[in-house]
This record gives sequence, C-alpha cells and structure tokens, in this order.
Amino acid sequence: MAAMPSLIRPLLLVLLIMTALITAKSTPRVLVYTATKGYRHDSIPTAIAVLGREAGAHNVSFVFSEDPALFTDASLAGFDGVMFVSNSEEVLDLDGQAALQRFFQGGGVYTGVHAASACLFNDTNYLQAVGALFDYHPSLQDATFLPLTKDHPSTAHLPDQWRYTEEVYYFRSDPRSVGATVLLTVDESSYNNDAKSNGNYPPMGTPHPIAWYIESPQSAQPLRDGAAKAGRSFYTSLGHLNSTWENSTFIEHVFGGLTWALEGASTRAYGAGLVGAADNSTASVSASASASGSTSASRSAAASGSHAASGASAAPSATGSSKPSSAGAAASVAGLAVGAAVVGAAAIL
Ligand SMILES: *[C@@H]1O[C@H](CO)[C@@H](O)[C@H](O)[C@H]1NC(C)=O
Ligand SMILES: *[C@@H]1O[C@H](CO)[C@@H](O)[C@H](O)[C@H]1NC(C)=O
Ligand SMILES: *[C@@H]1O[C@H](CO)[C@@H](O)[C@H](O)[C@H]1NC(C)=O
Ligand SMILES: *[C@@H]1O[C@H](CO)[C@@H](O)[C@H](O)[C@H]1NC(C)=O
Ligand SMILES: *[C@@H]1O[C@H](CO)[C@@H](O)[C@H](O)[C@H]1NC(C)=O
Repeated sequence: MAAMPSLIRPLLLVLLIMTALITAKSTPRVLVYTATKGYRHDSIPTAIAVLGREAGAHNVSFVFSEDPALFTDASLAGFDGVMFVSNSEEVLDLDGQAALQRFFQGGGVYTGVHAASACLFNDTNYLQAVGALFDYHPSLQDATFLPLTKDHPSTAHLPDQWRYTEEVYYFRSDPRSVGATVLLTVDESSYNNDAKSNGNYPPMGTPHPIAWYIESPQSAQPLRDGAAKAGRSFYTSLGHLNSTWENSTFIEHVFGGLTWALEGASTRAYGAGLVGAADNSTASVSASASASGSTSASRSAAASGSHAASGASAAPSATGSSKPSSAGAAASVAGLAVGAAVVGAAAIL
C-alpha cells in the first residue's frame, strides 16, 4: 500500500500533462474571404450562411469578410487559416499578397473552394497555395465525380460515383507539379466538354484533378524563424450552385478538407506555430476540468455570432480604410452571416 502513492503520483502527473496538452487546442479561427473583382457567384450568400451555421458543429470559428484591408500581418496573425470561396480576379493588392505569403510562412493554413482558383492569376505564392489556377469549364450540367481515395476526411463519406449538376473545372497547370495529392477526379465521358482552353497552358495531368490537398505547400517556403512547419492546403473546385451548398454531402467534403488542413497543427490553435487563435482559458491544467464548459461557451458565442460578425465587418469601414462599395459589401455579408461562429473577433479586427 505504501508503494501506491509513489506509482500513482507520476501517473497522475502524466495524465494531467496529457489533459493540458489536449485542452491546449483552442477553436481555430478561419477568415472566409469571398471578395470578387469580376464574375460574382450568386451562391456566395448561401455559402456564407451555410458555413456559419455549420461552424460550431465542426469546432471552427469563421470571420466572413470581403475587405482586403484584413490582409495585413497584424490581422492575419489572429487566424489559423484563410478560406477563399468563389473569388474572381485581383482580390488582393501586392501588399495584401505579400502579407498572405508571410501568413503561410508562419504556418497559416489555406483552403479554397470553387472559383478560389480563379483569382490572383499573377501571384506565384497564391498558385503554390491553391495548387493550380482555373482555365475554363464546360457548361453547367450533370457530371460524375469519382473519389480516388476514401482515406481522407474530405472524401471518406462520398459515394463511389457522385453525380450531380456542377461546373467541371479545367486548370492551367497540374497541381501535382507543386506537390498536390489529388483526391477527387471526374469521369470525362460523363458530360459534354463543350468549351475550350483560354490559353496555351501546360497539361493539368491525369486523372483530371477536381479536389486535392498539399501537405507542405511551397507557398510557405522559406518558413519564418520559429515556425514549426508549413500549414496544409486543401482545394476543391466544386461548389457552383446554391443547391450544392445546401447539400450535406458537399458540406462534409468542404469541412473534411478544412479541418484536415487545420489539424496539420501548424498554428497557435493547436499549441504550435506563429499565427492563429490561442485560447488561454483552456491552456492550463486548472482550466482543463471546465473544457466542456468552454466548448459550450464557444457554441453560445456561435449562436450569437451574427452580432459578432457585424462588429468584425464594421471595424474596417469605421477606420475609413475601405471604399464605400466594399464597406457595403462587408455589411451585407455580415447581415447574411446568421449563426456565424465568431469568437473574440472584435479583439483582433
Ligand atoms: C442563390 O441564393 C441566393 C441567396 O442565398 C439568392 O440570392 C440567389 O438568387 C440564388 N440563386 C439562384 C439561382 O436561385
Ligand atoms: C468538437 O469538440 C468537442 C469537444 O472537444 C468534441 O467532443 C467533438 O467531437 C468535436 N467535434 C468535431 C466534429 O471535431
Ligand atoms: C498579369 O500578368 C500579365 C502578363 O504579364 C499582364 O498582362 C497582366 O496585366 C497582369 N495582370 C495583373 C492584374 O497584374
Ligand atoms: C446530396 O447530394 C447527394 C449526392 O449527389 C445526394 O445523394 C443526396 O440526395 C443529396 N442530399 C440532399 C438533401 O439533397
Ligand atoms: C495569452 O494571453 C497573454 C495575455 O493576454 C498573451 O500575451 C499571450 O500571447 C497569450 N498566449 C498565447 C499562446 O497566445
């Protein structure tokens, strides 16, 4: 009996340290950027509403914005990841592009959806993060998408033949040439390719890339001093229609890719890295007992998130740094971001 405490004490210590390490993970914060300079998808408001609604259930907090002024070192430092959704053309100036590159070099994570590959065409760093840039698509029609593996959270739940109405993207290069692993392809005989390339681009490779990940994107190189590792990238070219954003098969595809990228653990939310959310309240052993409490606190923040999102989006216009048009866009985005999970956004923005 006398020997027991001397055994139990180190065991308890190990348990406490493990608990502390596990609870050191805070809710990752992701900047969802839906700015457009050219074509604008009318599914963007649906995307924002659905992402906001689903955030809490996936342990992610989103800040929705179309304000390029958020792309500075200071504001990006508060995010674990950026998620580009259905953008077009030059949505960042050179300073914004450089800040985004430094964000990646500090461990920041990239996720892109649909026309996220149709912007920043001259930015090599962005190309390395997204993997390949949009060339063209045949007209909107039914097509059959095929998972190449189900050994990934973005594809594990997909049917073997996923047929629905979508734009089949063709790309200006092969994402595999910058380190991508292709997760999803398309049966090229399942639709009518009634359009043509816009330029003389290198082949995008086979099988036809539709969605992919990059474990260690070149956009993060060279890593900043003190950065543990590069943040992961995930991109899916799917997501054109409202009906797609309203479909849970697609939403789980997107969240599977996003959370996989975040769980690369390159950011402060996971206790490593130079960028991201770090929730001090769960980072100590004494706070670990209330870990579930702090999760429900995040959830209730998520429930009242439209308020926080309004505050976050209003901040840049309050500084007068954004043009009236972009302030208006940000305000309408905030109005639609019902249920957006925004935790502590006001502190950073
Ligand atoms: C898609 O949804 C948005 C609102 O979320 C709506 O404004 C738009 O008209 C819808 N598009 C179509 C084609 O129904
Ligand atoms: C979210 O976090 C809670 C608490 O840590 C956990 O129980 C739950 O499984 C997580 N959900 C997802 C989808 O990761
Ligand atoms: C991108 O590069 C091309 C080729 O150099 C140039 O013609 C075009 O103006 C550039 N676009 C932007 C937005 O910088
Ligand atoms: C979502 O899409 C899948 C695959 O296309 C389909 O089987 C399913 O019925 C859709 N779900 C809803 C609710 O429309
Ligand atoms: C925790 O909070 C302190 C004071 O607010 C801050 O200086 C520190 O950077 C935070 N910790 C992390 C890991 O961000």
